[in-house]
Amino acid sequence: MIGINKKDLDIVQCPHCHGKLAWQGSGEDKLLDNGVLQCDNRHLWRVKEGVADLADRTNFSTKDRMLDTLFDFLAPVHDLSVEYLLPVLQYPDPDTDRSSYIDALDLNGKDLAKGTVRIIDIGTGPGANIDLIDNALPEKRKREIWAVDLNASMLKQFASAFRENEIGPIRLAGADGHKLPFGDSTFDRVLNVGGINLYHSPKQGLAEMARVAKPDTPIVVVDEGLDHEKDNNLLHHLAFKWLTMIDEIDEAPAHLLPAGCEIVDVSNISRFYYCLVYKKTNHDKLVEEMEELGYSS
Ligand SMILES: C[S@@+](CC[C@H](N)C(=O)[O-])C[C@H]1O[C@@H](n2cnc3c(N)ncnc32)[C@H](O)[C@@H]1O
Ligand SMILES: [Zn+2]
Repeated sequence: MIGINKKDLDIVQCPHCHGKLAWQGSGEDKLLDNGVLQCDNRHLWRVKEGVADLADRTNFSTKDRMLDTLFDFLAPVHDLSVEYLLPVLQYPDPDTDRSSYIDALDLNGKDLAKGTVRIIDIGTGPGANIDLIDNALPEKRKREIWAVDLNASMLKQFASAFRENEIGPIRLAGADGHKLPFGDSTFDRVLNVGGINLYHSPKQGLAEMARVAKPDTPIVVVDEGLDHEKDNNLLHHLAFKWLTMIDEIDEAPAHLLPAGCEIVDVSNISRFYYCLVYKKTNHDKLVEEMEELGYSS
């Protein structure tokens, strides 16, 4: 089974009020199995068959709910469409090379030399990035790889793919990228592929990733953005329009970075996909702006 354990509650917190969570339920020795996580303010988060639903849906719009339904349908065919349909749309330069954004995570970085490396993949879907992250880490490095997603069907898909998998240190939980259920400066690396353009507030998503990232570590964000350096024909423009039809944004959101953050790099990894790398340089400034924007309530 895959999920979270009681020790993980040192870093997991209530996504609504940031309070500490207490466990009431079965299976606390290894993985939390069935029960609830509750904070002092009595916010309750259900855990079912090992998967904690820590997504705060209080401010969800109709569009958010529609997207969730769309991802329910997409979950079983997601990886196949990325593998087979995307290259056709991007022809004659078909590749969207996942290895280039994994490189941007700098998993051999000197700052990771000691202790356990903690990495999070937000909007993990069925989990295509997890093996890539695991393989890119130095063999002996102790690791904890967190995979979170808003959508229950994606989480199920992930859980069935990884149940038999040998990478032991994976944690899986339901979470909304706008309100991550983790403490400040928790992760050594942060990845978000293919989700943020759809967020109702990509700016809040960027700020949340910076909040949970340790200072100066790479935060890597990949999503749809047309490569204007390439020779795009009418079909490319139409396909790109179709791909981004319901997106809030359709370019690298470098202009939406919150205070206390700096761009490391913005590039295109393929005709239809950008890769934005940024880092948090000043946590206090970030938190100040998040409070002003009302993200922390
Ligand atoms: C296009 S899929 C990409 C999946 C995976 N990252 C990959 O590279 O194959 C986008 C994923 O983002 C998730 N997602 C969308 N909005 C989200 C949000 N607000 N918080 C967390 N996950 C979200 C969706 O449920 C979906 O699994
Ligand atoms: Zn709470």
